Amino acid sequence: MSSTKKQVNVAVLVSGGGTNLQALIDAQKAGVITDGKIVLVVSNKQGAYALQRAQDNGIDCATVLKKDYASQVEFEQAIINLFQDYSIDLVVLAGFLSILSPHFINAYSNRIINVHPSLIPSFCGKGYYGLKVHEEALKYGVKVTGATVHFVNEIPDGGQIILQKAVAIRPNDTPQSLQQRVMKLAEWKILPQAVQKVSKQILQQK
Ligand code: GAR
Repeated sequence: MSSTKKQVNVAVLVSGGGTNLQALIDAQKAGVITDGKIVLVVSNKQGAYALQRAQDNGIDCATVLKKDYASQVEFEQAIINLFQDYSIDLVVLAGFLSILSPHFINAYSNRIINVHPSLIPSFCGKGYYGLKVHEEALKYGVKVTGATVHFVNEIPDGGQIILQKAVAIRPNDTPQSLQQRVMKLAEWKILPQAVQKVSKQILQQK
């Protein structure tokens, strides 16, 4: 007899390499994420390696390009339509490097989470993404940085914080070495933990 546990349907939005997506897939396999299931991966960049990771793990995926739509709202609506087909309950931005408008945010209010590679409120907001975040942290001379998982609202990187983890900066760090360490020691740990935490909360509300 098979018992099917109730799980929330998770969609992951990506733009690049997808190491955070991989951390989520691994966490699902390892039983760190039990209350959510990744059912769809959507990329806004053609050929993003994250799509390959989804395919390798039997997860449905799609590419939605902004240039194929007349406006930001139409682009976002195409993603929302896909999400409705998959009955998505929770949206995870995992290296999704496009800012979403209120049209999308209101459609999934309190159901969108993002991972950012700094300790918010430092080095965040418009223009702070990827390597740039680490360049700025090193330029400023902070001794500690880290990663944050937060809910997404209309203010870039301004939503309620779910989890944070600090990472010490080393004297000889480069933006690249720091990015790798922040991912390994912080992002790949707290993103799966946050997905489990929020999935559990959503299940309790159902
Ligand atoms: C990650 O470091 C993520 O925190 C960052 O982009 C990288 C994506 O890597 N996101 C932002 O900077 C958002 N503001 P990945 O594609 O290997 O997961």
